[in-house]
Amino acid sequence: MSDRLTIRRPDDWHLHLRDGEMLKAVLPETARHFARAIIMPNLVPPVVTGADAADYRDRIMWAKPKNSKFQPLMTLYLTEETEVKDLRAAAEIGLVTAVKLYPAGATTNSQSGVRDVAKVMRVLENMAQIGLPLCVHGEVTSPEIDIFDREAAFIETILEPVRREIPELRVVMEHITTKDGIDYVAAGGDTIAGTITTHHLVINRNHILAGGIRPHYYCLPVAKRESHRLALRAAATSGNPSFFLGTDSAPHTDAAKLQPCGCAGIFTAPNTMSILAHVFEEEGALEKLEAFASLNGPAFYRLPVNEDTITLEKRAEPVIYPETLKTGEGPVTVFDPGFPLYWSVAA
Ligand code: NCD
Ligand code: ZN
Repeated sequence: MSDRLTIRRPDDWHLHLRDGEMLKAVLPETARHFARAIIMPNLVPPVVTGADAADYRDRIMWAKPKNSKFQPLMTLYLTEETEVKDLRAAAEIGLVTAVKLYPAGATTNSQSGVRDVAKVMRVLENMAQIGLPLCVHGEVTSPEIDIFDREAAFIETILEPVRREIPELRVVMEHITTKDGIDYVAAGGDTIAGTITTHHLVINRNHILAGGIRPHYYCLPVAKRESHRLALRAAATSGNPSFFLGTDSAPHTDAAKLQPCGCAGIFTAPNTMSILAHVFEEEGALEKLEAFASLNGPAFYRLPVNEDTITLEKRAEPVIYPETLKTGEGPVTVFDPGFPLYWSVAA
């Protein structure tokens, strides 16, 4: 087995950069390895209009490390008030790459999301016309649906009916956590793709709950049982062009996570590439890492692949990542995969 692997520079197709001091601290962690990222719009208040996206993009460019060529791909947060004209204008000038659908209440800062999909159908029809992809947080929010069943219920009650109504709509089912999601995307043809996070390839629900409650493994969609994790690993390492990396790296301060009601989100930006190399090697699929992290995403989003490369190398001694990242808002815990990491990105 080779101990060096050179791949096209990867992109992150689902990333939370936040704003202000947090943005400043976390952005270099992604910009170090990734060329581009789809930037999630769930700020407070959310990035709803083209003007909001332009302002947020400016703040990101401002916070970017000098000499970094990192390129943020902006998204709009879909609300029941989203205006077709504003959205089309933002898409036409290349300001936004996708639109994000949060069912209201599904996750962190999703209160302004969509309650009634019927109210956004006209926007979705316009997106289908211009080929603008819809990124979905695929979980229903009804309190009577078990949290472990919410992804499957979303596919059946929302996603499939919308896609039947608007077959040309291009959809990314984000952070898939179940075999149901994998099977749905795999059978869905070329108008649908799915992203998979780093952490969902590593943890199942036991990591969160067995032997004590571990808030740093809590995210949404919540990790499911082991059989689902295995389905995610099989899909990610298969080379199937319908699946690609969206880390969902979602930093929160320890103070916000370590509470009686701690918030959802796992911060994986610093060590994601090391963990992925480990996982792909374990699956005997190192040669598929480039497809997952660097090729399949641009193909779906109809963007060129990155010209430059990164090299991963396997060391004799484990690579040590800091346990926390200091930010102006307080420390943020870095995801601990629970095993030593030997792969790292060469400088
Ligand atoms: C994300 C966040 O913190 O913004 N949290 C998470 O657990 N993934 C929101 C999201 O993508 O669901
Ligand atoms: Zn997210």
